Amino acid sequence: METRSQWGTRAGFIMAAVGSAIGLGNIWRFPAVAYENGGGAFFIPYLFALLTAGIPILIMEFTMGHKYKGSAPLTYRRINKKAEWVGWWAVLVAFVISTYYSVIIAWAISYSMFSFNLNWGEDTQAFLYGEYLKLSVDPGQTGSFVPGVLIPLIIVWIVVLGILFKGVKKGIEVANRIFIPALVIIFLIIVIRAVTLPGALTGLEAFFEPDFSKILDPTVWVAAYGQIFFSLSIAFAIMITYSSYLPKKSDITNNAFITGFGNSSFELLAGIGVFSVLGFMAVQQGVPVDEVVKGGVGLAFIVFPQIINEFPAFKELFGFLFFASLVLAGLTSLMSITETYVAGLVDKFKISRTKAVLFGGGLAALVSLLFATQGGLLFLDVADYYINQFGVAFVGLVEVVLMAWVFRKLGEFKTHANEISDIRLGSWWTVSLGVITPIVLGYMMFGLFKENLLKEFDNATGNYGEYGDTFILFSGWAVAVGAVIVAIVLAVIKWKSNPELEDDSSKGGE
Ligand code: PHE
Repeated sequence: METRSQWGTRAGFIMAAVGSAIGLGNIWRFPAVAYENGGGAFFIPYLFALLTAGIPILIMEFTMGHKYKGSAPLTYRRINKKAEWVGWWAVLVAFVISTYYSVIIAWAISYSMFSFNLNWGEDTQAFLYGEYLKLSVDPGQTGSFVPGVLIPLIIVWIVVLGILFKGVKKGIEVANRIFIPALVIIFLIIVIRAVTLPGALTGLEAFFEPDFSKILDPTVWVAAYGQIFFSLSIAFAIMITYSSYLPKKSDITNNAFITGFGNSSFELLAGIGVFSVLGFMAVQQGVPVDEVVKGGVGLAFIVFPQIINEFPAFKELFGFLFFASLVLAGLTSLMSITETYVAGLVDKFKISRTKAVLFGGGLAALVSLLFATQGGLLFLDVADYYINQFGVAFVGLVEVVLMAWVFRKLGEFKTHANEISDIRLGSWWTVSLGVITPIVLGYMMFGLFKENLLKEFDNATGNYGEYGDTFILFSGWAVAVGAVIVAIVLAVIKWKSNPELEDDSSKGGE
C-alpha cells in the first residue's frame, strides 16, 4: 500500500496550519466584528473563546488527525463506524465554502490589477456592482457569465489545483513556505503605512475604546465564538486533514498554541491596519469613524478603493499590496479547504491524488462558475450566510459532544497528546471541551434556529436589499440541509480501501 504523505518539516506544518487559519476572515471579518461588539472590551470574550474553544478544539483535531492518520471521514470512521458521516458533513461544508471563497479571491486578483490605474473611479460602489460584477438580474437568476470574474477565477483554480497535484510536501508545504512569509511582509508594510497616516489615531481610538456594557450581552459572546471558529478553520475537517500528514514524532499541543496565537496576532494586526485607514478616511471626509466602518465585501471592494483614492502618495502601490495580501491569504486557505475533499476521496475510493484533485477540485471549480455570473453575488451571499450559520458552529457542536460525551474519547486523546507534546494537557482542556464549549455552542445553535425558523425570511442576510422570501428559503436551506444528506449518502457507500487501522498509532514514537 502507498504510504501516507507527510510534511517535510515541523515549520512546514505550522506554516500550512497558519496559512489555512489566516484568510479573508482575519482581514475583513475580524476588525468589523470586534468594533461592533464592544471594541477594546471585545478582547475579553474573544480571548475567552480562544482559550476555551479555539485552542482546545485545535488540539483535539490535531490529535485526531495524528492518531488516526486519516482525512476527516476516515478519522471519524476509525473513532466509530457510525460517525463517518460527520466527517463527510464537515468535508461538504468545506466544499461549499471553497466554491465561493475562490470567487472572492478572483475578485481580489482583478482589483489588484485595477489598482495600477485606479480603474474603480470615484463611485467605487457603482463600479463594483455595475461595471465589475454586472449585477443587474433579479435574485435567483444567473444572467450570463461575467468574463472579468470568470478569467481570474480560472486562474485561481489552476494555481490551487496545480499546487495540490504536487502533493503535501512538494505542493502545499512549499507554497505555504513562500506565500506566508510574503504575506506577513506585505501586510507589515501596509500596517506601518496605515498607522502613520493622518487620522490613524482617531481610527485606533474608535477600535480600541472599550464599551464594557457590551460584556454582559450574550450576542457579543456568540460573536466571539463565531469569529474564533471561522478564523481558526476548526470544525471544517481542515485541521484534521492537515494533521493526518504529521510524522509520528510531532508535537501537538505546542503546535496548536503557535497556530492559535499566530492567527490571533495577525488578526489584531489586521484590526490595527484597517482601523488606521478608516480613521484616515473619516478625518479626510470630516465624519465620525462609525460612519465609514464596514466589514466583508463592502470593506475590501468598496471602502478600500475609496481610501486608496484619497491616499497622499503611492496610491497604486498601496492598492496593489492590499489586494495582493487578500489573494495570498485567500489562496493558502483555499488550498486547505480543497485538500479536505481531495484527501477524503483518496481515502475512501482508493484513487490517486491526481484523480482526486481532478474530480473533487474540478467539481468545485465547476460549481464556482455559478458565482461568476451576473447574479453571482446574491448566490454567494446566501450560500455564505447559511453555511456559516448552520455549518460551522453546528459541526463544531456535534464534534465536541460526540468526542466528549458519546464516545468519551477525551481521556485517550489527552494521553496521546501528552505523550508527544512539550506542554501537558490538564483539566483546563477537558473542562473546556466537555463543559464550556458544548454549553456555549448549544446556546448559539438554539438562538440561531429560533431566529431563523421563526423570523421572516426576507432579506435574512441583511445585505444587498431584498431577495424575496422564496429565494432565500430554498437556496439557503437547500445548501445547509443538502450537505447533511449527501454526507449520509457518502458514508453509506462501501469503502474501496480498508479503513481499519493497520498499526497501533496511539503508541507514539517510531
Ligand atoms: N480561516 C480562514 C479565514 O479566516 C479560512 C477559512 C474560512 C477556512 C472559512 C474555513 C472556512 O478566512
